Parts: sequence; structure tokens; C-alpha cells
Amino acid sequence: MNVSVVGSGYVGTTLSACLADLGHDVTAIDVDEETVDRLNAGETTIHEPGLDSLVSAYAGSRLRATTAHADAAETDLTFLAVGTPAKPDGSIDASVLLAAAEDVGEAIAEKEGYHLVVVKSTVLPDVLEDELVSAIEAASEGTESGDVGVAANPEFLREGSAVRDFMEPDRIVIGTDGDERALDRLAELYQPLISDWDIPVVETGRREAAMIKYANNTFLAAKVSLINDIGNVCKAFGVDAYEVADAIGLDSRISGEFLRSGVGWGGSCFPKDTAALVAGAESVGYEPAMVQAAIDLNDRQPERLLELLDRHVDVDGERVAVLGLAFKPGTDDVRGTRAKPVIEGLLERGAEVIAYDPRAAEAMAEEFPDVEYADSAAAALEGSRGAVVVTAWPEFAGLDAEFDAMADPVVVDGRRVVERREGITYEGLTW
Ligand code: UGA
Repeated sequence: MNVSVVGSGYVGTTLSACLADLGHDVTAIDVDEETVDRLNAGETTIHEPGLDSLVSAYAGSRLRATTAHADAAETDLTFLAVGTPAKPDGSIDASVLLAAAEDVGEAIAEKEGYHLVVVKSTVLPDVLEDELVSAIEAASEGTESGDVGVAANPEFLREGSAVRDFMEPDRIVIGTDGDERALDRLAELYQPLISDWDIPVVETGRREAAMIKYANNTFLAAKVSLINDIGNVCKAFGVDAYEVADAIGLDSRISGEFLRSGVGWGGSCFPKDTAALVAGAESVGYEPAMVQAAIDLNDRQPERLLELLDRHVDVDGERVAVLGLAFKPGTDDVRGTRAKPVIEGLLERGAEVIAYDPRAAEAMAEEFPDVEYADSAAAALEGSRGAVVVTAWPEFAGLDAEFDAMADPVVVDGRRVVERREGITYEGLTW
């Protein structure tokens, strides 16, 4: 098929490259000329395993990039994969997405015959129906046949495994409100995945599809908050929350995924989507108590980590190593990372913070320029009075003799990666 993808960020680039790999001809559309030039040169600014090789393999053949939204009209269907950042009150800022939708609507107004617009971006049901669908339909008014379909098709890609998650999804969610042509087109598009992997396709309404995305992320975030809550209780009773989690995870109704307790969740999605769900619910007169509790617990968890450190050291004037800055291992992304409240809490206590992360130090230095950044975990630990582990980088599991360079070492582990051993005062956050 001939497909256009508006937005060449994280989701859009992964989608474009993977659709090209499935055999489709893809036009990636982005307002940023540098992004477009780089894509056409076979390069990407996004670090994602397997993505570079797909982009370089298909650039100039099945994948091309342009700044011209008008080119969308030359294709069979157009994905909107533009970001929906959070406003200060937690609600989503859909302005860039709406502008992109209008551009596409105007482009396809000139087209003869049916055109399908597929919303990949994360939007609440009311924004989707009342703003986005209306914007597309209004802008495309006057189409020869007035023939525009809008579908919602949320993504469930994780940073660090986005290409694999695209190629082997648990399910594909397609919201069409019963528009058979939209359904047929998307079924044809995903046919290679559906037939090769026997992937379930969930056919539903547009509003439902939009909500599935929020429910999915909120459920996972709340699951982590719940195991953190239980983990805090475990710690108070001297119980190992990881042994508890391993056992309850064997119950197929619970499952063992997302049961790693610790300093909490971050990233570009869980914090944004849970906040948007609360703000959206409140705008229609409902206060989602469980979701709010999940957020509150996540906000408190970094302070619990520091309280464990307080039990052993008065960090005022002391050097404290922060191990891990990325919101999870395998990425340089610091959006929503628990390292921020941890560093803020340490600075408030008067500590001298020395941070280390194998990939995310540069990004963190933009927000905390006065913190010292070490080149290795060993260098961060040397001479530090305390250490806190915030990100589960595998290399931290190998730390051992490095702790001997600390003055009377106290280690508070927020991710259960460091081995407890003699000679270290070790505290696990939930064990
Ligand atoms: C998440 C979802 O997992 C994806 O399905 C979704 O598509 C994506 O958001 C999105 O909406 O774009 P991602 O943000 O890449 O993906 O990160 P996750 O791997 O889900 O981890 C999120 C946070 O939860 C991390 O800070 C991680 O450390 C934390 N986490 C995860 C735990 O603390 N414990 C766990 O057991 C699992």
C-alpha cells in the first residue's frame, strides 16, 4: 500500500520504518527540515534497537520523507503520529496534532475518492471526536466525494523494544465506528503481521480505541504503584517484596509482568497519560481515585528512598552518588525519571550530588547543570558517603570492590540490582 505518516518523532519514525519493512511504500511527513533530510539520507536521531538499520535499508526506496503535507493526498491512507504533550494542569496539548490534521484535511480535499486518516497519537475520546475528527472533516470539506474516513489505531510500543513491539504486538486495536472501508484498509495494511504471527485484531469504536490506550498505560502504571505500595508494607514487616511478587505473579490472573517494585515509574508516557486521564475525567465530573492514588504513590516513592538513606547518614555536606538517571535502563531518556525528585531531595538536604549514568548524563545536565557527573559508577562512588540506585542498569549488578572506595559505604537500592554484601550498609527499598 501507499502510506503517509505525519510526524517523524519516536512513534512516527518507528511506524514508517516498520511499514516499509512490511512491504509498503511510505511517505514520512514532518515540519522539521533537518529531520526530513536525515531520514532521506537514511539516518535517524532516535536511538532504538533495529531502527537505524531499517531506515538506512529503505531510505530512497520504500521510505521517503518530505515537509509537504500535500503529498498525503497521493497515498491510500495517512497516519497522524504527532506528539500530544502535557499542559501544566495535566490535560493534553493537542494543538500541534490539530494543526497537522487540518493540513492533511486540506491536502485530501483535492483528492478524488476515499481517503483514510488514522490517528496513532494518544488522545482522549472527547478530543478525538469533538476536535480531531471535526477538524479533519471540516478541512477536507469539498472533497470530490466528501469521502474521508477517520480511524483510531493506538500504539503500545516501549522505548528500547519499539521495533520488536511493532512486529510482534500482543494485539492490534482498530477503532472505526463500523466504517467497513477503514477496517478493510487497515486489515490489508497489517495483513503481513496478522497472517505471520496470528495477532488478534480488536475491532472497536473510535472512542473505545482512544480509551484503550489510556486504560492500558494507566493499568500498568497502577500495577507498578500497587506493588510499590505492597512493597513498602513488606519493607516495614521485614519481608522481601520480590519473593512475594514472584509468587503472586504465578497467578495467571495477576501475571508476573510489571511487578518490579522500587523507586517508581517514569518516562514520556505513564506520567503524561495518567495525568491526562485524571484531568480528562475531572473535566466530565468524575474523580478517578485509584488512578490519582497511583500517581501520588509514585510521587512519594523517591522520598521513601531518601528516608532510608537518612536512617544511616546525615547527608548535609556529604557527597552522595546517584547511580542511574534514565527513566529505565537502555535509554538516554530522562523524561519523568525518578532521578529528578531524588536529586532534588538530596540537594534540599544539603548533599553534594555526584551522578552517573552510562547514557543519560548529558540530558540530565541540561536540567541539573550544577550537579557533578562522573564518567563511571566507580568514579561516582569514590569518596561518597552514600549511594542511591535509581535506574536498573545491568552494569550496577557487577559493582563490588568499587564500594570499598566509599567512606563507610551506605547503599540504598531503588531497583534491586546491587548485591547485598558484607562491609556495606545496604537497604533495599522494598526488601
Ligand atoms: C510504556 C508502555 O509500556 C508502552 O506499552 C506504551 O506504548 C508506551 O509507554 C507509550 O505510551 O508510548 P515505556 O514508557 O517505554 O512504555 O516504558 P516501560 O517499559 O513501560 O516502563 C515505564 C516505567 O515503569 C519505567 O520507569 C520503569 O522503570 C517502570 N517499571 C516498569 C517499574 O518500575 N517496574 C516494573 O515492573 C515495570
